[in-house]
Amino acid sequence: MIEATLSFPRRFLWGTATSSHQVEGENTNNDWWQWEQQEGRIERGHRSGQACDWWGGRWKEDFARAAESHQNAHRLSVEWSRIEPNPAVWDEDALDHYRQIVQGALDHGLIPMVTLHHFTNPLWIAEDGGWLNPRTVQRFVRYVRKVVDALGDLVPMWVTINEPNVLAYSAYLAGAFPPGHSDMGQALKVMRHLVLAHAGAYRAIHELQPGALVGLAHHYRGMWPANPRSPLDRRLARFRSAVFNEAIPRALVDGMLNLPGRRWRVPEAAGTQDFLGLNYYTVERVAFDIRRPQELFSRGFYPEDADLSPTGFIANEPQGFWEALRWAHGFGLPIYITENGVEDAADRLRPRYLALHLRQVWRAVNFNWGVRGYFHWTLVDNFEWERGWTQRFGLWALDPRTQQRTKRPSADMYAEICRQNALSSQTVARYAPEVVSQMFPGRPAGELAPEGVASR
Ligand code: FCB
Repeated sequence: MIEATLSFPRRFLWGTATSSHQVEGENTNNDWWQWEQQEGRIERGHRSGQACDWWGGRWKEDFARAAESHQNAHRLSVEWSRIEPNPAVWDEDALDHYRQIVQGALDHGLIPMVTLHHFTNPLWIAEDGGWLNPRTVQRFVRYVRKVVDALGDLVPMWVTINEPNVLAYSAYLAGAFPPGHSDMGQALKVMRHLVLAHAGAYRAIHELQPGALVGLAHHYRGMWPANPRSPLDRRLARFRSAVFNEAIPRALVDGMLNLPGRRWRVPEAAGTQDFLGLNYYTVERVAFDIRRPQELFSRGFYPEDADLSPTGFIANEPQGFWEALRWAHGFGLPIYITENGVEDAADRLRPRYLALHLRQVWRAVNFNWGVRGYFHWTLVDNFEWERGWTQRFGLWALDPRTQQRTKRPSADMYAEICRQNALSSQTVARYAPEVVSQMFPGRPAGELAPEGVASR
């Protein structure tokens, strides 16, 4: 084995990402809580319940875990339904509570990146049409002002909205998120409203906190043609990618939202990103499929020989991460990896997934592509939306009944990486030996020494 150390720049941010509904518990006043009470919505009838009990104070012990494992940043979100439980009614106690949490992150040496919207909506918003209602845009911006006013002195980096493409797709096309609709026209309309909400939030934050860094967390899913020689597959892959991956980030550059059959001018959105937040998990293959007119006659799937996660949710495709990073670099902005990880209760795949994906980040860093930080999804197992507790993404395992946390080997691996600000061949050899020769090919220098040269 060749010994090598893949070093990262000084001040690189190493952290994990979480979201309010997935970790806080008892978020009873939002659309997701209501959704969880309905039969058949969540796998095995799971509910968020106490989640990781962060609202009850367990953020303290979890931030201590993050800090002890040498992380220096944390991405968390605040819950709109707690802060504004009814229209224009503000819960100052909830805001104080968040101040304590954010201050707690800082006290643990974790630079906070705060997301303002991560999938959940206050019930009153949902009941008034949710993101189909254009009024939600202004209401969101009003809420953002309130939050930034209360927390801005503690928060250097804001994420306005998490994965607007996933939200529009899952809630209005796939029907897996509330309100569970399946209507392409609605999904496109919601994308537009989310872009406008981001733009309004961007400007509001900068008005109140000129030095803030503001972006959104964009989900980039690699899309490769199932058969690269098929012009149809290639076209469909390009098309899916144009809608899912390209449309929103492009609109934030040039103020044009290009969607199938619609071209919307959104000039207020032009130039509204200080950084590009990238959530990357996997790549899917795209094939022509006559039986799926709803999905534009295409189908996304993983190939049979894919290195699949235990629930089949994610294929381990680090090359797709490289492509996503190259794509992100095209925007000429600093890049933060706002999410990346894999569900793996037994922690068999996670170590190599982490090593192989961080090597791609390192490659990007070495092209000077302005990658400033990496937030692993996630710190402790949490409530994974319609998949409930069936998926375990944590560096720490959680038993939601007892609230007991158990460290997985990946937590130690990540701690070593964060401490060294580097990914070394020794770390990979210890935690993911099966990929060492792939990651560090070649033979050690001693073995290559010409005859007569003493190897030390
Ligand atoms: C992302 C979500 C995040 C988490 C991961 C696994 O799409 O932003 O909340 O559920 O997937």
